[in-house]
Amino acid sequence: MSKTTVSLIKCDIGSLAGHHVVPKPLLDIGEKHLKEAQKGGIINSYYVFHAGDDLELLMVHKEGEDNPEIHKLAWDTFQEAAKKAVQLKLYGAGQDLLKTAFSGNVKGMGPGVAEMEIEERSSDPLLVFAGDKASGGAFNYPLFRIFADPFNTAGLIIDPNMVGGFKFEVLDIKENQKIVMKCPEEMYELIALIGSPERYTISRVWRAKDSLLCATTSTTRLSLIAGKYVGKDDPVCLVRAQHGLPAVGEVLAPFLHSYFVEGWMRGSHWGPLMPVGLKNSRCTVFDGPPRLVALGFQVSHGMIASDDDGKPLIGDLFDDPAFDLARREAVEHAAVLRRMGEFEPARLPAEAMEYTTLSKVLEKLKDRFVKV
Ligand code: F6R
Ligand code: MG
Ligand code: MG
Repeated sequence: MSKTTVSLIKCDIGSLAGHHVVPKPLLDIGEKHLKEAQKGGIINSYYVFHAGDDLELLMVHKEGEDNPEIHKLAWDTFQEAAKKAVQLKLYGAGQDLLKTAFSGNVKGMGPGVAEMEIEERSSDPLLVFAGDKASGGAFNYPLFRIFADPFNTAGLIIDPNMVGGFKFEVLDIKENQKIVMKCPEEMYELIALIGSPERYTISRVWRAKDSLLCATTSTTRLSLIAGKYVGKDDPVCLVRAQHGLPAVGEVLAPFLHSYFVEGWMRGSHWGPLMPVGLKNSRCTVFDGPPRLVALGFQVSHGMIASDDDGKPLIGDLFDDPAFDLARREAVEHAAVLRRMGEFEPARLPAEAMEYTTLSKVLEKLKDRFVKV
């Protein structure tokens, strides 16, 4: 059976009024490019949206992961959108396009990528998560809850297809190495690592019994590419659901409450994650709070299941009063943290600030320190 690939490639190429939202002219450029690519047969389906100031290109095709043609399509789209952003003097125009010449894969060039090549099941519901003002490890906590915590996912107890557990691939960003760990057997060790989301990031999840791929995340570190702070990585994540995997409702259950992620103002603060519908996918107070959108669709015959006019059928999953509590908590936690100003733990610890002015402050003061 032929395989289907879902690619979500994103980039901050400029925003309206600071870093808060991708304006319509840039979304239109995304739409135009992907429509042409669909006509040309490069991709089968697409959906263009934004998470705050990040332009998100969701593409379904047959070309596999890391395909140069698909990556070039995204790269060219971002280039043209960045040009428009420059013309309009949008803020941070082209900010994530860190390299000039395309070299076959957008990874390591600025844009974020989550891809998944799958053999379609008889029905394959897929969820897309896209965050803004958050960082790479932001999905550690919910992915653990979804695939390893029986207090979140009833299927881990009830569904015989899940009782064998799940395998997690964890990247060690600092040492550039990775490890696969299996739950429930290695649950404590897994938490020991992924509880430090800035260093250890869950990149893939498989069902243990048959290695069925269930989730992938983007794991770029812009600061490591650029060698200095150039914005947070605003991660994306793909999750398959149902029929022997966590149900859509179990995938969404961790977001009943807000939780803290690294990012927010100047990428230097802990902030409460706020799940929002697309209409509220924009960052405001203190450049946040960090926001997350969740879209749901069906992968169907190499495409996104669409209506009779070919319009993809997309569910805006957080556009729901069921997430009002999390939104309320996010605002309340935001207020508590902001009262602390630049004092930890509101501000990130010094190590996470190495690419910001803190090192410059220390450099400036170094000759004035005297031994005690
Ligand atoms: C966070 C982010 C913003 C900016 C902040 C300052 O990822 O992009 O919070 O860091 O608005 O931006 P500049 O320095 O461009 O004025
Ligand atoms: Mg920006
Ligand atoms: Mg962003």
